[in-house]
Amino acid sequence: MSNFEPEIVAFCCHYCAYTAADMAGTRRVTYPSNVKIIRVPCTGKVDAIHLIKALEKGADGVYVAGCLEDDCHFKNGNLRATAHVNQIKKELETLGWEPERVEMMYFSAGMGEKFAKAAEAFTEKIRALG
Ligand code: FES
Repeated sequence: MSNFEPEIVAFCCHYCAYTAADMAGTRRVTYPSNVKIIRVPCTGKVDAIHLIKALEKGADGVYVAGCLEDDCHFKNGNLRATAHVNQIKKELETLGWEPERVEMMYFSAGMGEKFAKAAEAFTEKIRALG
């Protein structure tokens, strides 16, 4: 059995995903410590280069967590981020990497439990990929 513990970077928008993560903490709903959260004002600020840099610097998986569709506080930052994630997925595939190492997720501020479950599931998936 492998003891591999993946390093995961989660870019979370301040208004929804980060608040959801915070709510998980407040309610003592745990999620893996593998997930390192980087708070951003809006996921629209996360460019493809940030995702690549995180992988280059040793992250085994990266996800971007933004507001639900139509709920971005900066209109369509979450859609912009989705496009960047999809672009990186294609590039990873071209390089022979697993595209599922990069994902886009959406949360409302009240989804603390959902945030924790998603962090757990993503960590499991990356652990399985090695
Ligand atoms: Fe949350 Fe834009 S403010 S994704």
